[in-house]
Amino acid sequence: MQRFIVRISGMVLVILLLVACTQPGADAPATTGGTASTELNLLCTPQVEWCEGMKAEFEQAHPEITVNFVRLSSGEALTRLRNERDNPQFDIWWGGPIDSFIAAKQDGLLEPYDSPNLGNLTNPDLMKDPDNAWAGVYVGSLGFATNTNFLAENPGMEPPRSWDDLLKPEWRGQILMAHPSSSGTAYTTVCTVMQLRGEDEGWNYMRQFNQNVLQYTKSGSAPARFVGAGEAAVGIVFSHDIVAQIEAGLPLTLSFPEEGTGYEVGGMAIIKGARNLDAAQKWFDWALEPATQELGPKYAAYQAPTVKGASPARPELLEVNLIDYDFDYCGDNRTAFVDRFTNEVASAESLRE
Ligand code: F6P
Repeated sequence: MQRFIVRISGMVLVILLLVACTQPGADAPATTGGTASTELNLLCTPQVEWCEGMKAEFEQAHPEITVNFVRLSSGEALTRLRNERDNPQFDIWWGGPIDSFIAAKQDGLLEPYDSPNLGNLTNPDLMKDPDNAWAGVYVGSLGFATNTNFLAENPGMEPPRSWDDLLKPEWRGQILMAHPSSSGTAYTTVCTVMQLRGEDEGWNYMRQFNQNVLQYTKSGSAPARFVGAGEAAVGIVFSHDIVAQIEAGLPLTLSFPEEGTGYEVGGMAIIKGARNLDAAQKWFDWALEPATQELGPKYAAYQAPTVKGASPARPELLEVNLIDYDFDYCGDNRTAFVDRFTNEVASAESLRE
């Protein structure tokens, strides 16, 4: 009888140990069925070539995981996450200015992660959320792309070198920019103007600027391609996207506003309720390694890295007059500024792809 009790309690102990080992705890990330995830659903905001490259590179580093990605501009990504809040389809969001990540955190859409590689960041105050809801993965400045054929055909015209230059009547119907409802690039532009001029003057500026705009696009980088194709003379785009199109052979020249330009910290965050949390954490760690951040130029991505030990391919893009961009101000006001732009400057209907 005694021996029977000993055998029973031994079995109970084994069962208890097995249960304990399969329960996700603070240190053991939740996975589907307690086994390591074999898929990762990535919401990717940078240019599609870079998303494809990162998928291939990650799958090479983690052959057990298949990455499924959808490319969406920042505003579209944020809307998608808000709509899927009760049934999240993505595990991780990589890329796009952090203004949208700050807004997503405020909406409770992000899952904090204290990655061991957060220590690699060169400027943690700027490049990570204090609660570890997001981290910065690249940096880039806003610039102006001007078609050089247009300049050759219009003697006396110069590439714009200030925000005021964009208001000149010579540029009427000649400017392309994305719409801030869909694009983080465009939102960075609007929030830069608000910081440079103050809100009252800033909205006056945007209304005047709108008179020179030919069309608004969905994606932030699209104006560089369209201006390169001669569809308009000037595009407001991140400078690394302009460099990528110049490298691809388009007739563009890059200029910056002398009184100061805005910049982005491109963000990354795990989605609250991620089904493949362990795989999302692997991506998060991997994206903060110097070797990963030096992969950009292989995929025509010239943003500057955020981690120690990785060198920027185009350091000159940040050696310009950058404003002291207030990401909290821009993140907090994102919804209000986008609504005001849509109501008072230009509607978000029939945006060009
Ligand atoms: O094309 C790359 C890029 O400019 C990123 O640097 C930036 O974070 C992202 O696109 C913004 O995209 P969008 O303006 O379409 O939201």
